[in-house]
Amino acid sequence: MRDALRLLRSYLEYLNLLGVESVPSYPEIRNFLDLDPGIPGTMEDLIREIQRCHRCALHRTRTQAVPGEGPHPCSILLVGEAPGREEDLEGRPFVGRAGELLTRMLSAIGLSRREVYITNVVKCRPPGNRTPEKEEIEACRPYLARQIKLVKPRIILGLGSVAARSLLLTEEPLSRLRGRVHYLEGIPVILTYHPAYLLRNPAAKRLAWEDLQLFKKTLDGMA
Ligand code: URA
Repeated sequence: MRDALRLLRSYLEYLNLLGVESVPSYPEIRNFLDLDPGIPGTMEDLIREIQRCHRCALHRTRTQAVPGEGPHPCSILLVGEAPGREEDLEGRPFVGRAGELLTRMLSAIGLSRREVYITNVVKCRPPGNRTPEKEEIEACRPYLARQIKLVKPRIILGLGSVAARSLLLTEEPLSRLRGRVHYLEGIPVILTYHPAYLLRNPAAKRLAWEDLQLFKKTLDGMA
């Protein structure tokens, strides 16, 4: 133990010599937004690119890509996992049962869907609504990075573990990530359960409600 503390102390002194004056209590992710290739363009350009995307195998089974929708720029960005059957047919995010619950969750904290930008980590439906695979998430991540730069949100709400892990570039389970504010290049990120999970596990709604309160408090505190 004493050795570990000595090592930690010398590492902190080394960081201090390099000019680092404080160490955040949880990692502040700095490189996710750098996944944006930096192509200048508008949201409309990005949407067209996503609609034509062939970066992973999901383009073979999709009806259409679901880039996202909402005003842009927009103070609030919601990030889900991937389109389901209804979303794949309509080309819009969160229009199925999970979407109905999401609309109710938003209205419980005084927000309407028209006030938020909604997108997903993965823009095409995984067959059978399976969880997106790592390669699919990686292939789509630059789109999300670019979308964040174009939406310029003041706050992000991540829905479910795929969104949580993708935004924070971590493998930590959602249960350990929710309940506190993370930061993505200075943008507060709050994480909660996916509405589809809440439909299957109503007992988790209490925790989701706490997360929504934290989200609202953080948003109101920025006004
Ligand atoms: N689930 C998601 O994660 N996104 C949607 O758009 C719909 C369901």
